Amino acid sequence: MKKQIILVGFMGCGKSSVGRSLAGQIRYEYCDVDAVIEQQEKCTIADIFKAKGEAYFRSLEVACFQQLLEQEERTVIATGGGLPMAEENQKQLEQHPMVIYLKASSQTIYERVKRDRTRPLLQTEDPKGTIDSLLELRTPVYESVANLIVETDGKSVERVWREIQEALR
Ligand code: S3P
Repeated sequence: MKKQIILVGFMGCGKSSVGRSLAGQIRYEYCDVDAVIEQQEKCTIADIFKAKGEAYFRSLEVACFQQLLEQEERTVIATGGGLPMAEENQKQLEQHPMVIYLKASSQTIYERVKRDRTRPLLQTEDPKGTIDSLLELRTPVYESVANLIVETDGKSVERVWREIQEALR
């Protein structure tokens, strides 16, 4: 199997929970780009956005993703929802043989994230509207970099990783 399996998709689509379970099943390492950034910066994503702004976070995201791609271990990498939007990351993803887009509808996403206070981009007056407009912008990019698209609406984490495992065979 491939060296890395990269999960992309919007906030709340299940990249972390599916990624962790999938990695356990196929005996890969698991790595979450946001978690690595938080460890390296010793600061939460929300605090990085607050103290240094989104552009700074995006530059960390590019650097961190690059570092992870250079590692040799077999790893499932869960990316942040905005990571594929940076040109450098998009190029890397387009060249990568195993990018999986976990697709979820705006309603599913909203239900999953509506009580979440850790995602700075969704702390708006109208989170559902924010999700809709970001999704519109991002969906074509997620779809264009993916080698595999898995619909996640109404599916358990286990069902999603089983579908991925099946497709990897
Ligand atoms: C973001 C998604 C978050 C995190 C940051 C920005 C985005 O990751 O990287 O809050 O732009 O969609 P998750 O997709 O893991 O929530």
